[in-house]
Amino acid sequence: MKHIFFFLVIIFIASCSSTDPEEEKRRYKKAEHMVHEAMEMMDLPEYGVKKLAKKGLYTSKDFIQASTDMMREGRVLNDLDHPDEKFMKMNQEMLDSFVAFEAAIKTKDFAKIKASLAIVNDTCKKCHDAYE
Ligand code: HEC
Repeated sequence: MKHIFFFLVIIFIASCSSTDPEEEKRRYKKAEHMVHEAMEMMDLPEYGVKKLAKKGLYTSKDFIQASTDMMREGRVLNDLDHPDEKFMKMNQEMLDSFVAFEAAIKTKDFAKIKASLAIVNDTCKKCHDAYE
């Protein structure tokens, strides 16, 4: 009798931890929605960042503003819960590149800002090549 009880308890625990496919679908949908929103919100400030970078205005007030806005919108993805580990890894690379970019902007060093923006752009491109 005791054995049957333990057996049932184990079955119960196993059924709780196995992922429900509906739940998994909801998690995907939610993550994809969050990513889409963040990308749309980064679109406009990124346009400014690119345009000003092309003109070499890395230390201008407008460049700093556009960069700050882009990172703020992208950082919403700090709370991303995407079931795809590879996606999460690439998301983290973008967030890490923001930290370095932000630090570079503070130095007002043209070369440093340019180099760290190139790394930010690489993280965007890497994920877009894989997922967009
Ligand atoms: C971890 C993955 C990932 C990273 C990193 C990433 N993106 Fe995206 N991005 C996507 C995906 C997926 C799409 C297309 C699907 C969507 O928009 O929902 C997309 C689409 C976009 C779009 C088009 C949005 C629209 O209006 O349809 C823009 C703009 C964009 N990304 C900007 C950026 C910028 C700027 C960066 C880097 C600072 C970046 N993304 C980094 C995954 C990523």
